[in-house]
Amino acid sequence: MDRIRLKGGVPLDGTIPIGGAKNAALPLMAASLLTDRTLTLSNLPDLVDITTMSRLLAELGVDVARRGDGVLALTAGNLSGTTAEYDLVRRMRASVLVLGPLLARCGRARVSLPGGCAIGTRPVDLHLKALAQMGARIDLQEGYVEASAPDGLTGGHVVFPMVTVGGTENALMAATLARGETVLANAAREPEVADLAACLAAMGAHIDGIGTDTLRIEGIDRLGGAEHAVLPDRIESASYAVAAAITGGSLELAGARPDLIESVSDALAAAGVEVTATANGLRVARRNGPLTGVDVMTEPFPGFPTDMQAQLMALMAVADGASMITETIFENRFMHVPELCRMGANINVHGASAIVRGVPRLSGAPVMATDLRASFSLVLAGLAAQGETVINRVYHLDRGYERLEHKLAACGADIERVKE
Ligand code: UD1
Repeated sequence: MDRIRLKGGVPLDGTIPIGGAKNAALPLMAASLLTDRTLTLSNLPDLVDITTMSRLLAELGVDVARRGDGVLALTAGNLSGTTAEYDLVRRMRASVLVLGPLLARCGRARVSLPGGCAIGTRPVDLHLKALAQMGARIDLQEGYVEASAPDGLTGGHVVFPMVTVGGTENALMAATLARGETVLANAAREPEVADLAACLAAMGAHIDGIGTDTLRIEGIDRLGGAEHAVLPDRIESASYAVAAAITGGSLELAGARPDLIESVSDALAAAGVEVTATANGLRVARRNGPLTGVDVMTEPFPGFPTDMQAQLMALMAVADGASMITETIFENRFMHVPELCRMGANINVHGASAIVRGVPRLSGAPVMATDLRASFSLVLAGLAAQGETVINRVYHLDRGYERLEHKLAACGADIERVKE
């Protein structure tokens, strides 16, 4: 199993190219199941999760053709199956995003229940309720969701009791081919949902309210093909912004969209980090000044993203004063805390909040990653720490950060991947 070995203390300086958003790419790929025409997606990141989704689509009969770097042409002319097996869903929860499209296009779908994961129980009950409100019959059998709608889905009025990104995406995709109008209220406003909606509209879907919390979809009989470029990854952008801040360096994030990470930029600015828009993207710098602790609470977009909580905590671990970080989206998303503490951080967790008391310096240590974003927080801590840090279980990072060690090394970091 690969490891990342890094030595801290180098202020990063240079340009980091930002890739396409993984969390937009996965639902966009699933959307190819809605049409027999070709959906061509560009700006796809080169990540393990993208390969896993390609495999799942290929198993369902989708022709997946690579058309150059980061470009896939997906053609679901003849689907050969409607089952997403446990083995793939277990590896990548986002596999559940094929449920809505398969059901809408084929009238049935059989998708393994994903089970819990490191950061929480993460049920899919709201996905299922939404589809049931659109006329689907849902049975749970032997660990699988068996969904059917032999006469097609019908429009429904869905009010999500809590904001769910995947639930909104599944229902949105299904609604494009349902008979009549569907209203999705309290829909997720995450930019990845808006990107999916924009692509579906390019495929011919009738969607009102894109980017708001109320989506109105007028179902049609068939969707066509489209060409769509995946939006830049806001979590990758914000993660590298913290890398500039924590090392006291200056990074240009080429291709980043400032409007997608305002809540993170605001927190960084309050902590004493300069964040400025450039012609190319974003520049983040902290050359000399101290860092100040700030309080942050995770919320659905446009609030502070839960996917940036661990990385901000690493930064707060070396800021002056205290910081309270409250996690409201997932119930068990502080798995990085003991690892950061092994590197010298002073963090106490009380329920959904963590009190971080800044220390002058972290020290390198061998650490273990538990999930994707937690892993990056350990990379950040290692970049700021004195001495050597070795991060085990790098496969978590490979699911969400493209060529991470190359991008950081190009800006001066002393970092390498150790193959085993
Ligand atoms: C997506 C992102 C993930 C991010 C999360 C929150 C992808 C591939 N993943 O995950 O990186 O951390 O949004 O921004 O886009 N919930 C239920 N029932 C459901 C669905 C969700 O109770 O049916 C709960 C979850 O357990 C969680 C909360 O709702 O506590 C938010 O989850 P959701 O927005 O659905 O996250 P994902 O779509 O799984």
